[in-house]
Amino acid sequence: MISAVPITQMLDQIFQAATVLKQGGLVAFPTETVYGLGADASNPSAVAKIFAAKGRPADHPLIVHLVDKAQLTQWAQDISPLAQHLAAQFWPGPLTLILKKAPQVSDSVTGGQDTIGLRVPGHPIAQALLQAFGGGIAAPSANRFGHVSPTQAEHVRAELKGAVDFVLDGGACPVGIESTIVDVSGEKPRILRPGTITASQISEVVGYPIEIIASSVLANAPRVSGMLESHYAPTTPLKIMTLENLLATIQTKLADQKNIAVLARTELPIKNNYIIYFKMPMSAENYAQQLYATMREADAKHCDVILVEALPEQEAWIAIRDRLQKAAAK
Ligand code: TXA
Ligand code: MG
Repeated sequence: MISAVPITQMLDQIFQAATVLKQGGLVAFPTETVYGLGADASNPSAVAKIFAAKGRPADHPLIVHLVDKAQLTQWAQDISPLAQHLAAQFWPGPLTLILKKAPQVSDSVTGGQDTIGLRVPGHPIAQALLQAFGGGIAAPSANRFGHVSPTQAEHVRAELKGAVDFVLDGGACPVGIESTIVDVSGEKPRILRPGTITASQISEVVGYPIEIIASSVLANAPRVSGMLESHYAPTTPLKIMTLENLLATIQTKLADQKNIAVLARTELPIKNNYIIYFKMPMSAENYAQQLYATMREADAKHCDVILVEALPEQEAWIAIRDRLQKAAAK
């Protein structure tokens, strides 16, 4: 699952990719969360290519990926003991920390803000690439702005072909949704984007309860593009509903002879040529891992609508529900 090819057989490619980065090119690479579209974070013209390839507004800040925690001080300043503690607990892993940026960090990376997003990814290919490259790699998710994040190399190729100089294929990403973002640049830590590292896990390390800031609160505050309501959206309208409503909606759509895609954890009692049914995993971990690939597959069927069975309320599902709500908000 982690890597399609053993890492030892990918070293040549990893070195080629590192060379592309050093020359100011763009490299798509797997992380444990989603594929990133990487450029040399210390080279503004390379970073500019990321925005052009994605069609992303220039004032949206990027996450800089580092090989280890020791590089923190090259990119951030005023790093609190709490930030150090979170880094020590969760890096390498699916956590991004927002910190006050170091003076030498280019505005192209931070979108002109005085803070910077930093993350040490745990994926072996991302680690090897960071080792070979030596510096920080600025990388947003490797999708067109506002679209679903890629969790397989072919998603990147399909969406950004021509705009990327090198794609490292590491198979399917094991986590499947983007990192938890914790802002530790102010007085009190805040979770800006939920992820598979939960608020409880963060709170346990911090020593008191940390809340997830509602996206509506942030809508026009810091420029967190993952917070825009309609982020992560497929082209087909997507609706989330209880099983009961879902079954009723299916009946209506069928009466209208509409093709529909259904993502449900429950085994559907109705089978029909008009229904394209995606059986979703029962566990939150597996559901997250498959969500974006399934959304892309469902989207490609060009159905009238994608219906998604509502998910449990428990904490493990919060980040997944967040992504689905954003996909539905379009
Ligand atoms: O899992 C991930 O985080 C993936 C992989 C590739 O590392 N990256 C990712 O990047 O999701 P992106 O750019 O698609 O989303 C990063 C989010 C954006 O919403 C961005 O606005 C926010 O992080 N962000 C980055 N720097 C920030 C800052 N200084 N202050 C507030 N938000 C920031
Ligand atoms: Mg993104």
